[in-house]
Amino acid sequence: MNTSPNNWYVASWSKDLAVGEPLAMQVLGRPLVLWRGPKGEVSALDDRCVHRLAPLSRGRCEGANLRCRYHGMVFAPGGEVVEIPGQDEIPARARARAYPVLERHSWIWIWMGDPARADPDRIPAMVGLDDENYYLGAGTLDFAADAQLVRDNLLDFSHISYLHADSFALGDAYAKVPPRIVELPDGLQYQRWLENQELMPGNSMLVDQWSNYSFRAPGIITMATGAYPLGTARALDLGAPDPSLPGMNITFTNQAITPMSDRSTRYFFSWGPRRDCGTPELAEQMMALAYRAFTEDKEMVEAQQRMIDLDPSFPMLGTHSDVGVFRFNARLREIEAAEAAREAAEGCARVHLPVHAGAAE
Ligand code: FES
Ligand SMILES: [Fe+2]
Repeated sequence: MNTSPNNWYVASWSKDLAVGEPLAMQVLGRPLVLWRGPKGEVSALDDRCVHRLAPLSRGRCEGANLRCRYHGMVFAPGGEVVEIPGQDEIPARARARAYPVLERHSWIWIWMGDPARADPDRIPAMVGLDDENYYLGAGTLDFAADAQLVRDNLLDFSHISYLHADSFALGDAYAKVPPRIVELPDGLQYQRWLENQELMPGNSMLVDQWSNYSFRAPGIITMATGAYPLGTARALDLGAPDPSLPGMNITFTNQAITPMSDRSTRYFFSWGPRRDCGTPELAEQMMALAYRAFTEDKEMVEAQQRMIDLDPSFPMLGTHSDVGVFRFNARLREIEAAEAAREAAEGCARVHLPVHAGAAE
């Protein structure tokens, strides 16, 4: 669970948070309650009533507010207590921690760190479930494992050839053809042409398969794939195809990895065809395949976690296919070191301020 709180994390699908029905979630080990007020607005607080620490997610929505169902304290969306039954005076410290939240691309995003840093522009461009150009299905799967192992799984697609040999059934090309990796300010982009591939299992037409996969901190993924006539990869000198280039089986997936605790991770994913390449029924079939394949990931990663926990000091052996894992984790450490240095500098400024102000009085 080694990612900074100063990130947007996906807390829920938007569709899974109904008006008036509080939802319990945990991110980075913190229990959270999310709820949607009468105008559809989303709020998030620590899921602990300040009175006797009962979970507020067992509470009741009252207009925009949330009432604890134990002894009835009422919390406003900003976290302040606005009613204590049987008591007129409300202490100033009667307040639950509130978190910045916003909805974008059909997800509810929560900022777990310094609210002053919660910049919505850090959420990348993605494809929502309502996008008029795609038919996408939505899924969620929990892993009983550290988010680090789920991230590492998704940073090394060589496992597709083996772990998903029967589900995705894509042969050994993913293990043998390395991607071109491009650095992003907040992660990595993998671009990969697989030449001379069957169009899909059961259709032996030969094509060049393209995928463009971005993996951003703290674990936000987008991937576009498409099939193009044989020779396209060479004609483009293995460069990216222009979106206007006619292709087949063009698909898009959005995915997010949210660390809930040290040993639990929620994986959110959508997948489906571009509308000119498929139908809503195809999106459903693709999601059934995704659930099958991602359950293979879940079972392997959970078994890997149990093995690691038997002896956490046991060393791993890096291979060429781990290059993305190493580069992303190095990138994450760089981003977080820069953030720590900035916080330390700002901390010094804060310490000096009162001294200066006091001297002026
Ligand atoms: S625990 Fe919430 S009001 Fe008592
Ligand atoms: Fe996988």
